[in-house]
Parts: sequence; structure tokens; C-alpha cells
Amino acid sequence: MDPEEVVQEDEGLGWGKSLPVPSVQEMVRKDSQSVPERYIQEHNNRPLDSEFSPDLCEIPIINFSLLANGDEEEQRKLDLACKEWGFFQITDHGVTEKVLHDMKEAEAAFFQLPLEEKKKYAMGENDLQGYGQGYVVSEQQKLEWCDLIFLLTLPPKIRKFKHWPVSIPGFKEAVETYSTDMQKVAEELLANLSLLMGMEKEDLKSLHGEMKQAMRMNYYPLCSRPELVLGISPHSDASTITLLLQDDELTGLQIRHKQKWVPVKPIPNAIVVNIGDALEVWSNGVYKSIEHRAVTNEKRSRMSIATFFIPGDEAEIGPLESMVDDKHHLRMYKKIRYLDFLRHSLGSKLDGKAHTEFLKLETE
Ligand code: OGA
Ligand code: NI
Repeated sequence: MDPEEVVQEDEGLGWGKSLPVPSVQEMVRKDSQSVPERYIQEHNNRPLDSEFSPDLCEIPIINFSLLANGDEEEQRKLDLACKEWGFFQITDHGVTEKVLHDMKEAEAAFFQLPLEEKKKYAMGENDLQGYGQGYVVSEQQKLEWCDLIFLLTLPPKIRKFKHWPVSIPGFKEAVETYSTDMQKVAEELLANLSLLMGMEKEDLKSLHGEMKQAMRMNYYPLCSRPELVLGISPHSDASTITLLLQDDELTGLQIRHKQKWVPVKPIPNAIVVNIGDALEVWSNGVYKSIEHRAVTNEKRSRMSIATFFIPGDEAEIGPLESMVDDKHHLRMYKKIRYLDFLRHSLGSKLDGKAHTEFLKLETE
């Protein structure tokens, strides 16, 4: 088949697009010392030590198995974690070390492919699926020190295998198994959150219509000047929740907490969970979709896999009745069709909490 024809036939997700920019991995492979101007962040965006939280605070840790068994104390911890932090790590989640390991190996195998091979899975001109960079919307904007591959993973019918490096032995199987396991974890978390929000267990899931799952596999090459660049700029995720599998040793992720940046220290085999914009809106701002960013490292590259759980295109996001009243819990956000929100959010560069700010109602 003529490749041109495929591009024309497939209009992508209709979620947005990202302008093509060079591979950072390739740039560093050729010259590991230079940091081109386009990657040097403005002063106020650089990851300076002075902005760090002085007290050694760490995000909450939730025991997933207790939660799944209906432990009330653990449910209270979950509630508090979502209110005060918007981020937590889960341990005892039952996903085997092998599944986590195979997923990480699959990602590593992809980024080890020669550039020409990786390019076979490149994002189309009007699409965000595939290999490339995220959120590049203008020729002027600063670029991030990160390459990625973004894949839709569930339900199976939305998979576009032309972007999947299925020629890597075991890649497809590793992603499928990991994706199924993450779905179970996410659904259990959503069931608990549903109860905490005054609904029945299944209600939060139902509000999604046809819930989608997508994965963003990030590769942050080492950087000779980590104090000048960002792996990912401050942003909040457009999802309902996100599950992040990160490097077991290197700390790269930082979250905004009480006006400071708090690093998320890896706990081997734990999964980092964060609240996304859709849940912030449904919960009327009670659960927080917190700004986060990733920094780079001078000695080593770092990889991570973010699995996003996303409402269906036609789902409506707006504060739930159970989270609103006329006295103490005034309605804080507009209602919006999820696809419209997503297009707005993906069509602008990452900019802290700008995406949920745009949904905020004027309240005195
Ligand atoms: C993301 C993200 C953080 C990380 O992909 O949305 O926030 O540590 N990743 O890779
Ligand atoms: Ni994120």
C-alpha cells in the first residue's frame, strides 16, 4: 500500500498534534556536552534547588491490598492523599515483578532501536500517537529533554498497531499484560474513590462512558546541564487518574506541594498514582490534580511509563451532585464535554494548572 494513502485515510485521534522536532536521544548520542538554546528554560522555569521543600516531605504511601479488602483506615488515607497531595505511591498492588520488569524491558528495547527504526512508528502529522515529542505547538516554545512513544492501549479496538513496535520480540505481550494489570488497579482505585465521593462503587467508572487507557513511555536522556533544562515542564494530567512506573533508583519526578517542589523518591516496584484534571472537576476541586514536572540527570538516562485513564470523548465532566451544595461547597467548575476539554488541553503547551483554571467558575 502507498504510505501516503495510509496517512490520508487515518486522521488520527482528533485530539491534537505535536510539531516534529529532533530526537533528544539522538542529539545527546552525537554530542553529550552541548545544550542547544531551544532547550534552555527561562530563568523562572529552571529547576533550582532553592525552590525545594526544606523539610524532607514525601508523598503518602497506600497499601493497595488493604484498600482492596475494604480497610477503612486505608480508605481514609486515600481520601487524605487525594485531598492534600493529589499524589501517592501504592505498594502491595499484586502486579508481579515480572510484569513490571517486562514492561520496562520492552520500553528500553524500543529506545535502543536505531533512530531510523524508531521513526517507523513516528507520530503522524495530525496525531499524537506514536514516537515523537509531546506538546510542541509552536516553533518558538522551549523544548523538553525527552523523547516518547504514546500508545492507546485499551479497549483493544482502539489500538493502532502501526505505531506499536511489534517487531521487538515480546513488546506487544509485555504491554498487553501490563495494561490489563494496570486496568485492574485503576478500577479498584476508582471504586474506592467513588465510595468516598458519596456514590456507589461502579458510578465513577460509569461516568467515563467508554473509558480509555493510554500509555506515554518517556525517555529522558542524560543531560550535561540538568539545572538548565526540564524533562517535562510543569503540567497536570488531563486524565482521571494516572499510574506511573518509574526508574527504581533515579529520582526525576517532582510535584508541587505548598508552593514548593517535592521530589518523588522511587520505592522499588511501587506505582505512583496521581489525580488528573477530570477527577478534580468531578470532585468539585476536593481532589487535586497537582502540577508536576520531571528533571534530568547528569550521569544516567531515565525512563518512565505513564498510564492514563481517560473518560470517553462524549463523557461530561462537571462537578458531581454529591460534591456540591448551596452553602459550603459551591459549584467551582463549568460542565464540558471531555473531548472539548482534551482538545483544549492538548492544543496548548504545558502550562502548570492553566487547563483546569480555564474551567473554573467565577466565585466570590
Ligand atoms: C507524564 C509525567 C513524569 C515522569 O508523562 O505525564 O508526568 O516522571 N511523567 O516521567
Ligand atoms: Ni504527568
